[in-house]
Amino acid sequence: MASVRIREAKEGDCGDILRLIRELAEFEKLLDQVKISEEALRADGFGENPFYHCLVAEILPAPGESLGPCVVGYGLYYFIYSTWKGRTIYLEDVYVMPEYRGQGIGSKIIKKVAEVALDKSCSQFRLAVLNWNQKAIDLYKALGAQDLTEAEGWHSFRFEEEAMRKLAGK
Ligand SMILES: CC(C)(COP(=O)(O)OP(=O)(O)OC[C@H]1O[C@@H](n2cnc3c(N)ncnc32)[C@H](O)[C@@H]1OP(=O)(O)O)[C@@H](O)C(=O)NCCC(=O)NCCS
Repeated sequence: MASVRIREAKEGDCGDILRLIRELAEFEKLLDQVKISEEALRADGFGENPFYHCLVAEILPAPGESLGPCVVGYGLYYFIYSTWKGRTIYLEDVYVMPEYRGQGIGSKIIKKVAEVALDKSCSQFRLAVLNWNQKAIDLYKALGAQDLTEAEGWHSFRFEEEAMRKLAGK
């Protein structure tokens, strides 16, 4: 039987990662917001000071099967800093292709991120989810995450480029 392996992404995975980023954005009904390119993913994740780290879930064919390993999911994370708690991991994306869901792959990716967080002495691991994505919300809660909007009322904000330019006068 084919098996699943969660491993660190390599530069050569960026094409697959971009494909899955687009699938996730489509699922989130926000595909028009994806501006990232494979080149940017290569440069930003695999240079001297990487801006992000990525895990990929790969299906390994059973002995005798001719299919090569195939990337069916990913988890992309980076380090942030909390003035209250110190070192923190932020999981930007987690995604598994529809036909491979419900087999524990997403949970394996999330568990691996928790392992990396502890190895790097992070005291928390954060992520955000759209308010209609109840299945993902239920999964995160089942895995032990706390809903910060429910518990503490946080709103998530961003300055886009135009707003930043106005602020910076550039
Ligand atoms: C969320 C996601 C990564 C979980 O991966 P997975 O491999 O299906 O997860 P697991 O097999 O470890 O866990 C299965 C659980 O995930 C839940 N789940 C979450 N979103 C789901 C979805 N869109 N389709 C099917 N199951 C989903 C299932 O309800 C299941 O719960 P159960 O075991 O109580 O039945 C995956 O379902 C996915 O990519 N969903 C679409 C994208 C998404 O929502 N990403 C998170 C954005 S914040």
